[in-house]
Amino acid sequence: MRAVVITHPGGPEVLSLEEVPDPVPGPGEVVIDVAAAGLNQADVMQRQGFYPPPPGAPPYPGLECSGRISELGPDVSGWQVGEEVCALLAGGGYAERVAVPQGQVMPIPDGVSLTDAAAFPEAACTVQGTVYQQARLSAGETILVHGGAGGIGSFAIQLAKADGAVVACTAGTPAKLERCRQLGADLAISYTEQDFTAAVLDYTGGRGADVIMDIMGAPYLAGNLAALATWGRLVVISTRGGTRGELDLGVLMMKRATIFAATLRARPPAEKAEVVAATRKHVWPLIESGAIVPVIDRVMPMAEAAQAHRLLGEGTHVGKILLVN
Ligand SMILES: NC(=O)c1ccc[n+]([C@@H]2O[C@H](COP(=O)([O-])OP(=O)(O)OC[C@H]3O[C@@H](n4cnc5c(N)ncnc54)[C@H](OP(=O)(O)O)[C@@H]3O)[C@@H](O)[C@H]2O)c1
Repeated sequence: MRAVVITHPGGPEVLSLEEVPDPVPGPGEVVIDVAAAGLNQADVMQRQGFYPPPPGAPPYPGLECSGRISELGPDVSGWQVGEEVCALLAGGGYAERVAVPQGQVMPIPDGVSLTDAAAFPEAACTVQGTVYQQARLSAGETILVHGGAGGIGSFAIQLAKADGAVVACTAGTPAKLERCRQLGADLAISYTEQDFTAAVLDYTGGRGADVIMDIMGAPYLAGNLAALATWGRLVVISTRGGTRGELDLGVLMMKRATIFAATLRARPPAEKAEVVAATRKHVWPLIESGAIVPVIDRVMPMAEAAQAHRLLGEGTHVGKILLVN
């Protein structure tokens, strides 16, 4: 098969579509002939040499894909050769074929095309595993989604809204703020022109957000704590601005607040399977009802992976960038 190989750590130009050995499915694994793969910031960090794949994962980037099952390993039940599926991967999505544990495979939601389905696994499972399974967002509560126009944020806005939350978000340009409103955000805050803490407190009459999904880490820690409501939950899914900040435990105590953090990729297959099962149950019906749509910035050929990484790095995209075979 062909796969996008990271020839050595570096810029987008180190990505090269090359002939590599076909994957061999282990016990409990299926092989998917990849139709489309979603890009994620983790792929960029892997390309740069900062984020090695977990043990046993393919060396090629790609944390999510859609495609057709072409082979079953030993001890697979419930999946058939020829079925159209999408999957959460530990790596290897930028390829013609990938082997994946059966618990990380999901059916294509009704009404979604095979290509578009590649936009969902990483975003849906990340938000399910953090905002819902850790921070327990519930209907009627207010959530602040940082990076609302990104692949994760554009999904989080829609899911929270579909579930009856009041949704605030941050984004950096007027066009992105408008897209966030179109996706359901009740309040879209320009992080370049506004103080997000003041904006959230103002919008909630001083109460604050019940849940905050953060992608910035250190520089947003104090502002996030100040924007949390009593009994609020901050869930950190990325530390784009730094990992070490100063935490005022007094504020945390007075608000009876909680800070969660998690990454999806590092979780062992059994834990990923639990998140995937919960995602199918909670999120798939909302996609099938049309309450959540795939937000796809552009679809590019697998051979143009380097250019796709350049675009992801520029950060002008809204939603997901996909690569197709
Ligand atoms: N923990 C996990 O399991 C997990 C899983 C998936 C992703 N992630 C992480 O989550 C983050 C978001 O992923 P993604 O796929 O949505 O990436 P993405 O598509 O590149 O989106 C990132 C968004 O962040 C926004 N942003 C940049 N600086 C910001 C700031 N100071 N304040 C608020 N927003 C800001 C950007 O908007 P502007 O262009 O307007 O600045 C952009 O829309 C990434 O860092 C990724 O690594 C974590």
